[in-house]
Amino acid sequence: MCPPRVRKRAWNQARRARRSAQGSRLSLAKKLCIKTYGCQMNVYDSGRMADLLAPLGYDTTEDAAEADLVILNTCHIREKAAEKVYSDVGRLRDLRAERNARGGGGLTIAVAGCVAQAEGAEIMRRAPAVDLVVGPQAYHRLPELIARAHRSKGEALDTDFPVDSKFDHLPQQHRVEGSAAFLTIQEGCDKFCTFCVVPYTRGAETSRPVGAVLAEARHLAGLGAQEITLLGQNVNAYHGEAPDGGAPWSLARLAAALAEIPGLARIRYTTSHPRDMDDTLIAAHGRLPQLMPFLHLPVQSGSDRILDQMNRRHTADDYRQVIAKLRAARPDIALSSDFIVGFPGESERDFQATLDLVTEIGFAQAYSFKYSPRPGTPASMMADSLPEEVKSERLARLQAAIAEGQRRFNEACVGRILPVLFDRPGRRPGQLVGRSPYMHAVHAEVPAHLSGRILDVVIDSAHPNSLGGHLADPAEAAA
Ligand code: SAH
Ligand code: SF4
Ligand code: F3S
Repeated sequence: MCPPRVRKRAWNQARRARRSAQGSRLSLAKKLCIKTYGCQMNVYDSGRMADLLAPLGYDTTEDAAEADLVILNTCHIREKAAEKVYSDVGRLRDLRAERNARGGGGLTIAVAGCVAQAEGAEIMRRAPAVDLVVGPQAYHRLPELIARAHRSKGEALDTDFPVDSKFDHLPQQHRVEGSAAFLTIQEGCDKFCTFCVVPYTRGAETSRPVGAVLAEARHLAGLGAQEITLLGQNVNAYHGEAPDGGAPWSLARLAAALAEIPGLARIRYTTSHPRDMDDTLIAAHGRLPQLMPFLHLPVQSGSDRILDQMNRRHTADDYRQVIAKLRAARPDIALSSDFIVGFPGESERDFQATLDLVTEIGFAQAYSFKYSPRPGTPASMMADSLPEEVKSERLARLQAAIAEGQRRFNEACVGRILPVLFDRPGRRPGQLVGRSPYMHAVHAEVPAHLSGRILDVVIDSAHPNSLGGHLADPAEAAA
């Protein structure tokens, strides 16, 4: 669940939100810089950490060089992602030394997120420059941990999975700018795919109560969010406590209630597991116009043998059936997936089954990764690890097949009229960029004052990762 494009957009939005909040505050006592890695859940968490620290006088900055506190919000999903934290800490340590030499103020270095959870105290042993370590379920305790770190850093470690949810302790209101926002509704994972660290870093699967989710969604809509992406590692396994104490609500029921919120024009959710794609949720795609016709539904592999070894507990045919039902309910639905190549024991035949599935389904986009053995996971103990060259070669072939599907999908959009939510300036003057229902970035000549509006766009060009077009109703530009 780490689509980089989505992540970049969301991060930019969070950044703009904080910048504008900065403008409205008079005294800038302390500066906070948060660097975010990993999935959208980390993006959401980074925003909430900034909300939590704002009352303590921390204003955000993108520049670590002017920060009093830097938080690295880390990801442990693959080895490369996890190692970044140590090179970042090295740079921050040098920055602190330079600053000390100049007689400047101190710099507190905090490591949050999934590496913090997985490695805990080991981080401070390996990187003594780190002052504070906090896991993804304990960051509501940051104010107390910062105070402790300033007293004595050895004590500033919190990787508990507290019984009381962090959500009960975060500020009720949070900032948003722009037209799209993330909303975490579910945390953790009980699926235990054999390659994956998430069940260990994020803990057991829990759903936030319906009342809390609806209140946060209303708050976000009140601040101008027209599109909300509901987040969870297995978001479609959502089963939140009902407002009236009745049976827990499913994601389908939650989506229907969210669709009633005035101003909320678009609802998305990510990431889903094929096993939890039940008939009510599939039917909701046909019934609720607010539910966008785009679904990220990772399959990981097209080979039943590998899916079994991964403990995915579904076959490639189960996946095909879910897709067929979704397409019956919402014929224009576009699909996305994650794939892992080079899982232990993956034969050329297994890999070919993945390529075949990609061609057969025709994904609008997809993410693909080389298998990376992660400490403590069952797959890391499996024999038959594949040589790096084989993984690289398969990844290149898979990416070519995915790119071909994406090219076809984008080209099929040319000539169509798509509603686009414009929310940021384009590269050229006079241009805005927005998002299509299918998650494309769409560029068009649109006056800046129409940013934040959903406008019909005639698509006239397709690019590998975006579309170009012009307003269907030129009168709108003059409005
Ligand atoms: N909860 C989501 C995905 C979480 S992680 C789901 O079930 O689909 C995001 C993606 O990272 C996964 O879908 C998988 O494709 C990839 N991934 C996870 N662990 C990995 C590993 N050890 N090596 C390579 N890729 C991995
Ligand atoms: Fe990881 Fe599997 Fe859980 Fe997704 S469903 S977070 S891949 S264990
Ligand atoms: Fe990475 Fe943690 Fe998300 S491991 S993908 S940041 S849940």
